[in-house]
Amino acid sequence: MSEVQNIQWFPGHMTKTKRQIQANLKLVDAVAEIIDARIPVSSRNPDLDKLIQNKPRVILLNKSDMANPTATKMWIHYFSEQGTTAIPVDCKSGKGLNKFPQAVNTVLQQKIEKLKAKGMKNPTMRIMIVGIPNVGKSSFINRISRKDRAKVEDRPGVTRGNQWFTISQNLEMLDTPGVLWPKFDDQVVGEHLAFTGAVKDQVIDTELLALRLLDFLKTLKPADFIIRFKLDEIDLDSVSSYDLLQLIGKKRGMLVSGGEIDTERAAIMILDEFRAAKLGRITVEMPGGGTR
Ligand code: G4P
Repeated sequence: MSEVQNIQWFPGHMTKTKRQIQANLKLVDAVAEIIDARIPVSSRNPDLDKLIQNKPRVILLNKSDMANPTATKMWIHYFSEQGTTAIPVDCKSGKGLNKFPQAVNTVLQQKIEKLKAKGMKNPTMRIMIVGIPNVGKSSFINRISRKDRAKVEDRPGVTRGNQWFTISQNLEMLDTPGVLWPKFDDQVVGEHLAFTGAVKDQVIDTELLALRLLDFLKTLKPADFIIRFKLDEIDLDSVSSYDLLQLIGKKRGMLVSGGEIDTERAAIMILDEFRAAKLGRITVEMPGGGTR
């Protein structure tokens, strides 16, 4: 579990974070925003647009190994229609990361060409990473930076201790990512973040959260979910989520003394299996508001 997951956001902290990001933005040419491909809406920071203003941006749909591939394609298309470059990545295995330098080049093409026209041969571009906790920022940085060529340097204006990692020829990345808060005042956003484990379970009652997840899975009916919990003979449209939780607990032999079903244990198991993508590659949020 990531350490930054434990960050408690409070107004003073948010202001400080914002200021730090604003200062770092002055040092970079573009921003790589990492979001979770399963929840591309809820895993975004609501204030980012205002914060980065016109700075070119690449969106990384991370954890794409756990998201529905068709849904991810739809998201890429959605962002592209908005004029934003987005690529699917899996920072656990490194899949898709080879497309990153090209994506940055695309968003910085105008700037690079301008500099070249001014006589600069191979201008070096710099980027920074931003994203909410647990979205995969550290995994991205570890995967993409060629550590052997990382440079420790004190440049004017760079906070002491800042490092620039080399990603590829003429592309460098600030080692410290900007950690941003999600839109936590929205209940649905909170639930979706909790489904994926991006926020701690303690924030929402575990059993209630599992029931909300079952509400969603009942409607979506992913094949792996049905197979895994042997639900092919159940009419998912007419069973209540609580009955379904009991049924799954019973099938897994989760009983407490007296023969009652241990719904708390069943709830934890369902959430764990969803988070590990054992119930299928499921995207919770679709462009336009639906689910897949
Ligand atoms: P952060 O810096 O943004 O807070 O996120 P971090 O990289 O720490 O990643 C949070 C968790 O998400 C880690 O799992 C990490 O392995 C996992 N993760 C990151 N990117 C991907 C991805 O593309 N696919 C998958 N499947 N997982 C990803 P963890 O359980 O906290 O730790 P561990 O399993 O790595 O030990």
